[in-house]
Amino acid sequence: MAGRIRVASFEGKMVYITGGSSGIGLATARLLVREGADVVIFARGRERLEAALAEMEKERRREGQRLAWKQLDVTDHQQVVRVMEEAVREFGAPDILINCAGRAYPNYFENITYEQFDETMKVHAYGAWNTVSTLYPRMKVRGGYIVNTSSVLGFMGIFGYTDYAASKFAVVGFSEALRGEARRHGIGVSVLCPPDTDTPGFAVENLTKPPETRAISEGGGLLRPEEVAEALLRGMRRGSFIIGPGSAGMLYRVKRFFPWLVDLFSERAIRKAARGKSG
Ligand SMILES: NC(=O)c1ccc[n+]([C@@H]2O[C@H](COP(=O)([O-])OP(=O)(O)OC[C@H]3O[C@@H](n4cnc5c(N)ncnc54)[C@H](OP(=O)(O)O)[C@@H]3O)[C@@H](O)[C@H]2O)c1
Repeated sequence: MAGRIRVASFEGKMVYITGGSSGIGLATARLLVREGADVVIFARGRERLEAALAEMEKERRREGQRLAWKQLDVTDHQQVVRVMEEAVREFGAPDILINCAGRAYPNYFENITYEQFDETMKVHAYGAWNTVSTLYPRMKVRGGYIVNTSSVLGFMGIFGYTDYAASKFAVVGFSEALRGEARRHGIGVSVLCPPDTDTPGFAVENLTKPPETRAISEGGGLLRPEEVAEALLRGMRRGSFIIGPGSAGMLYRVKRFFPWLVDLFSERAIRKAARGKSG
């Protein structure tokens, strides 16, 4: 489609990935290394960053390919500015920025504290804002690509995810508005909306999931993080705005054109789960 910015090749591109030490972020980092990109990953925990780098090294395509990690908490604006400026000095500005840091603690609305809501917004909405606003002036110089990770919960609010859906809708809104502006500078913007994906983060998510939430996602299948990473690269090659791996693309269209179908399906699953609880 006209006006779309696409990534023709990943070879030799400098890619920054937040949340690159685990799950979808790590699978994306490994795939990009295999494609010949230089990749720097960012996350809080040092041990997982070191282990992730060892995984990335196995995919190395050439000598001189730059693979590295930096410790970063995306919720801390001042830290993001400091660490990203350090990274730009060390590795150069990114051609591609992928914001993948995140987590989910689903629960009934009345069990979600203000502190949890605050942290959820900080990781997803402020996290994306913090890295993009810091790196955007650098990326404007020669163009590039930005991917923010949302979720299917970024276009449909589902039982058990009041804080998470609010933050992931914010990521979609931010990305959509940014896409129009960034195009003028040769920067493409996509939003990755994965469905349930088998990652360490998903295992944690399952610990607090209410039965109604389980009933809704039951039968929806579980993607491998590698499948999400492949869809992500395909989406950047096409310059798509919404990148919906697996069933997410179809869910996006159903929600958009037949929202009542989603409500009907959710209502049924919630009633079934309630019968299970009382029986
Ligand atoms: N898995 C799914 O089913 C699914 C579905 C839809 C969307 N998503 C989204 O996809 C993204 C990746 O999820 P995942 O399942 O791959 O999770 P994961 O396996 O738990 O990986 C999350 C990554 O984010 C990092 N992270 C978390 N909080 C951070 C912070 N404040 N600052 C910097 N890094 C932080 C983690 O490292 P540290 O903890 O060491 O910082 C880790 O590298 C998230 O945005 C998630 O919401 C996942």
